[in-house]
Amino acid sequence: MAAVRETGIGTDPVNDADAVLAMVLADAGAALVVESAADRALVLARIRRHWPDLLRGLELAYADRPIAVAKEVVALAVRRFGERSSDLRLLDLRRMVEPDWFQQPSAIGYACYAERFGGTLAGVAEHVDYLSELGVTYLHLMPLLAPRPGPNDGGYAVQDFHEVRTDLGTMADLRALATTLRARGISLTLDLVVNHVAHEHEWAARARAGEKRYREYFHVFDDRGLPDAYEQTLPEVFPDFAPGSFSWDDELDGWVWTTFNSWQWDLNWHNPDVFVEMADVVLYLANAGVECLRLDAIAFLWKRIGTTCQNQMEVHAITQALHAVSKIMAPAMIFKAEAIVGPEQLVPYLGIGEHAGKVSELAYQNSLMVHAWSALAASDARLASAALRRFTPKPTTTAWATYMRCHDDIGWAVDDVDASAVGWDGYAHRGFLSDWYAGTYPGSDARGLVFQHNPSTGDRRISGTAASLCGLEAALESGDAAHVDSAVRRLLLLHAVALGWGGLPVLYMGDELALRNDHGYAADPGHAEDNRWVHRPAMPWLVAERRHEVGTLEHRVWHELRHLVATRAGLPAMHAAAEAVVLDPVNPGVLAWLRPHPRQAVVALHNVTGTTQHWPRSAVPIEGHLMDTISGLVVRPDGRAVELEPYAAAWLRRA
Ligand code: GLC
Repeated sequence: MAAVRETGIGTDPVNDADAVLAMVLADAGAALVVESAADRALVLARIRRHWPDLLRGLELAYADRPIAVAKEVVALAVRRFGERSSDLRLLDLRRMVEPDWFQQPSAIGYACYAERFGGTLAGVAEHVDYLSELGVTYLHLMPLLAPRPGPNDGGYAVQDFHEVRTDLGTMADLRALATTLRARGISLTLDLVVNHVAHEHEWAARARAGEKRYREYFHVFDDRGLPDAYEQTLPEVFPDFAPGSFSWDDELDGWVWTTFNSWQWDLNWHNPDVFVEMADVVLYLANAGVECLRLDAIAFLWKRIGTTCQNQMEVHAITQALHAVSKIMAPAMIFKAEAIVGPEQLVPYLGIGEHAGKVSELAYQNSLMVHAWSALAASDARLASAALRRFTPKPTTTAWATYMRCHDDIGWAVDDVDASAVGWDGYAHRGFLSDWYAGTYPGSDARGLVFQHNPSTGDRRISGTAASLCGLEAALESGDAAHVDSAVRRLLLLHAVALGWGGLPVLYMGDELALRNDHGYAADPGHAEDNRWVHRPAMPWLVAERRHEVGTLEHRVWHELRHLVATRAGLPAMHAAAEAVVLDPVNPGVLAWLRPHPRQAVVALHNVTGTTQHWPRSAVPIEGHLMDTISGLVVRPDGRAVELEPYAAAWLRRA
């Protein structure tokens, strides 16, 4: 019906829709005359293919003018296509031939801060060999677009989406780096901070200068009436250093929505002008050679009174529309949703119902991460099994981004329902995990730091590197070789979980060398307040060299991890199109799942305890002789159980 209202073409909605599309194609065809016939035909075919998804997404979010907005962004996409390099156009074709590139068993991600890994963008390019040696095919560089001066939440307060941080280089350097990486089979991922901009961003400055258009880019309130009403149901993200979700601004003479810090202003996505602006940023970054955009804090985009203002259905509609625009200009580009939410809310970020296959290709598998750490602390896999079973299937064209550590803290997202299903108390278990990983629980050797203690919910999130949380720091101090061995085993077990679930495993810089906490952050005034910097060390390249020295800790961790990466690459069952099926924890000390791929089935077993465990042969749903592809050992045909050493993982396939 919107078609009738907006265009006034006629009274028949079906024919009107055809007429609108015909007009859009005619305009695009005219704008594309300078292109080759083949490119023109391709772009027109892509418009035809993605127009319905674009329009539908916009209808759901902006019911009063979806067609006008759709036309505007298609025109943008056509214009930006003119700026797309021949290299990237070729990549678009290659990706259309191989759309599952990020789902393949050989796909491995790596996340790091450009300045901490290579100093500058050019410096990152100098370390590409290191990434290739590890098997990396996807590189997430932490926020590097121009941030505000002063505290900037690790770059998540962007002042200019069109410029690179000056200390790292220029846009030209970014393009050069993307080209270098691409030539080495590594796809560049960057953050697109969609929920907010820095208080210094031009839009915010113009809002403060009194321009009405830009005031409407933000959620601004004259008094506390609505903010107070929203606060009733809003959870706090940074209760410690940025309590509340609204900040007073004198120049605006109003309260502005600031979910995170007071200098991170939430964008008003209810305003379609914001959609158009951000669609253009997506296209601009795609043309810089970015192959995957990590949609930061995407859960928060849409606000609705009486809710947590997270995961509202319009978020998915907007993502679908953004995705459609990007597919018209840059089919090679994919999206990764950063939504750290519970299972029911998470799967929709990969698309369920009408959005299936039309939103992000990747989303962080937060539950797997949380429950792996939880199972290790408890030496018990029952809760993890119950929680992971709750996931409904995702579209086969998507993949989980699996990980064990990242630049953020770990929040103990343990659901009360899952906990009670195994007879545990959710609140008590969350408290136990905080105590365990802060190292205050009797017997714990973890060395985490408490982040954002929220007295009203009791939540205590945890910072720390994987190795320090696994007890390696404490073990090395004790000088006890058996203790060190056990900490390393835990670290490798966690990596086996991330690598074996199926999806795109993303390794976090330094974990491949078992780097411990870096307490230097406390001396840096820009970081001292935020202890997440304890697990954001600079890459110690001299330490990295020890990966070549037999007998060192780094050699062991690097090579065992590299072995897992190589083993995985050889297992068709690890393709992300297949869904992991969690098996009954018949032995509570073992987390187990099946990957039933049509070409091959793999059963992954993980002993989350410090003692030898057995998994009954009858509970491995694979016929014939079994082989553990990690150890290379064939499981004795007469054996009644598979034996797992302390903290060992096994990936079993038919021998
Ligand atoms: C995401 C980032 C986190 C940042 C927040 C606000 O959650 O991972 O580091 O603080 O968004 O942008």
